[in-house]
Amino acid sequence: MSKKLVVLGIQWGDEGKGKIVDLLTERCDAVVRFQGGHNAGHTLVIEGQKTVLHLVPSGILRKNVQCMIGNGVVVAPDALIEELNALESAGCEPRQRLLISPGSPIILPSHVALDQARERARGKNAIGTTGRGIGPAYEDKAARRGIRFGELSDPDSCCERVGELLEYHNFLLTSRFGVDAIAPDDVFSEVHRWSQELAGLIGDVSNRVYEIHQDNGNVLFEGAQGTLLDIDQGTYPFVTSSNTTAGAAACGSGVGPLMMTTVMGIVKAYTTRVGAGPFPTELFDSDGDHLAKNGHEFGATTGRPRRCGWFDAVLARRACWINSVDSLCVTKLDVLDSLSDIKICTSYKLDGETIKQPPWDSRSLDRCVPNYESLPGWSESTVGARSLSELPREAKNFLSRLEELLDVPIDIVSTGPDREETMVLKNLF
Ligand code: IMP
Repeated sequence: MSKKLVVLGIQWGDEGKGKIVDLLTERCDAVVRFQGGHNAGHTLVIEGQKTVLHLVPSGILRKNVQCMIGNGVVVAPDALIEELNALESAGCEPRQRLLISPGSPIILPSHVALDQARERARGKNAIGTTGRGIGPAYEDKAARRGIRFGELSDPDSCCERVGELLEYHNFLLTSRFGVDAIAPDDVFSEVHRWSQELAGLIGDVSNRVYEIHQDNGNVLFEGAQGTLLDIDQGTYPFVTSSNTTAGAAACGSGVGPLMMTTVMGIVKAYTTRVGAGPFPTELFDSDGDHLAKNGHEFGATTGRPRRCGWFDAVLARRACWINSVDSLCVTKLDVLDSLSDIKICTSYKLDGETIKQPPWDSRSLDRCVPNYESLPGWSESTVGARSLSELPREAKNFLSRLEELLDVPIDIVSTGPDREETMVLKNLF
């Protein structure tokens, strides 16, 4: 039977999804992005060569894999053109295999200006967005005034609509935030360039996925960010502006929910987060420094240092059931090498009470104190281990404990950034 696999992060993003998607697409006919935008940064390392993708699905480096950007993704045309050009310079032919839904909202330069102006205005309450216009573009979509990708096929009428939207954006930029307006003529000439370069990529993603399904093909739905950044289920307001959870794979690509056959949750062996917001297991000591240094914890999109902490099983367990995760992939196990003790948070203390479910609001989550379980670490290197038998006993115990706490089997373990440094315990296709 063909498979429809959703792959998503179950923490605050940066779990290493790009590498796993790239690995799994060996047996896929298509990869679909269904939410987020170029706020994502998916790093792939193949035989030592690094590629960072932001908008283009991580299957692009495999020939014969159809890559699609669904209606749930907000598309920045200038960033997309830059990414396509970089891929072409590296010898890849992305344009022949990429299809973009006409329903995807477009990110305009004024969305970027609004995102940055809003963040500045929030002052110490800033969310720490990537500053790429993601939030304002989703706002316009929900307010039913957004410009959609399909409109690039008629640049003149697209410019008319962009002109109307810019009037509103410029009013906000100048009157509300006191910053410069965006010159409409500059955007209009950009629209014509975008149309020339990108209109040929517009296509019916929903129908293409259905055709592949009818042909018994395998499709992978590639999540971006992570469950705890979901606009509804995450640590609101310190979240991104899309639904990052599994349900979005269906509505963000225009297919029915029963098409999905497996949901793989990617978790790091510890926790990281970029930007502001509650993070109960965050570390400010030498163990935190160890994770940051050995895990190279800097954002792939913004280069910002990531906050680091112990594995939080309270949040991860909930993320598993919110997404119907039935298969787990643990990444960056090797980053824990040489730590003498490894901690896992199994419950919180909030106002004197022990709780096993996270509170619904960020303020209370911020006050939660983690209760830890301590596991012995290991001194041997696990880098590049290819089977469980190559792992030290303590590392195997750590993985078994995660399986037990999350109640989901671990099918893949990653022990280094390269495609090769991966242990596939169960074949998902
Ligand atoms: P936005 O998506 O740019 O609006 O940013 C909202 C929040 O999501 C900020 O805390 C960002 O740091 C975070 N964020 C957005 N994209 C990613 C990602 O790909 N990985 C990790 N964090 C992200």
